[in-house]
Amino acid sequence: MLATRLGTLQLTNPVLSASGTFGSGWEGREFSDLSRVGGLVSKTVTVKPRPGNPPPRILETPAGMLNSIGLENKGADYFIPESLPKMKQLVGEHGRVIVNIGGESIDEFVELAERFTAAGVDALEVNLSCPNVQEGRLLFSTSPQMCERAVAAVKAVTDVPVFAKLSPNVTDVVEIARAAAAGGADGLTAINTLIGMAIDWRRQRPVLGRGIGGLSGPAIRPVAVRMVYEITRAVDVPVIGVGGIQSASDVLEFLCAGAAAVQVGTAQFADPALMVRLVEDLERELAGLGRSVGELIGSAHPEAGPATPGQPAAAGASAQERR
Ligand code: SIN
Repeated sequence: MLATRLGTLQLTNPVLSASGTFGSGWEGREFSDLSRVGGLVSKTVTVKPRPGNPPPRILETPAGMLNSIGLENKGADYFIPESLPKMKQLVGEHGRVIVNIGGESIDEFVELAERFTAAGVDALEVNLSCPNVQEGRLLFSTSPQMCERAVAAVKAVTDVPVFAKLSPNVTDVVEIARAAAAGGADGLTAINTLIGMAIDWRRQRPVLGRGIGGLSGPAIRPVAVRMVYEITRAVDVPVIGVGGIQSASDVLEFLCAGAAAVQVGTAQFADPALMVRLVEDLERELAGLGRSVGELIGSAHPEAGPATPGQPAAAGASAQERR
């Protein structure tokens, strides 16, 4: 009932952590049994350690959060021996380990893909879309040519599935999704944060140390749902939906929009046990509906056939089956 797949990657259930909101999961082990989630996605790992942006880096906003972390991390030399084995231990035999990689150049993406493939991961998520760094800011997620080149370069050196994490900060997300698919992406993660800003009018200065940041949380969910819907109707690649998920109802909304899996992000800062509860709640909701995850994927698309009012689409193949 809960099983799903992202291309060749089978998942016991569609609930994954969103990069950057759960570290490598180690601190989260005290709150729930993480072997019950579909998988963990690491905070972005870069070739070299990064100190991140100047503080303040986080600001609560109405129905969301602005962050300007700047990809702070200890680099691949630390992550591979120290954090990766812990991720594998946490997810156990059935959960998936997905490492999110961030490069300042295509060469760096390639180096990271080679090293993590050798180290043994279930999939790579390519962070093309962090809005909080100066170098080549958003270049890989706003230029279709650069996006395709980066994804193709990663694909050329790995045999694990490659997911491209897309930015919402574009005019036409479908164009970028097509470019990632042309580069060979096995899946697309939609969406990263929306660029935003807050100003302290008393000081007449931006609140965040770097000025701008990425908006996440329930405030962006309608944007994310719309983008997942548009991408999955146009591009024949599985999509991982992310943006403001707080409940099983939100997960179901993303599935109906076309997502084959979801990532849970900002809400975990307030509730680090949320992912496992979502798995349980989702199972109950699906049992009530008499439907499986696979049957709901893309069921809101007109091509999926008519839906009974208040019920999921009763006829037609899911987006996953249509592939
Ligand atoms: C950050 O570290 O600044 C956030 C990561 C991202 O938005 O990709």
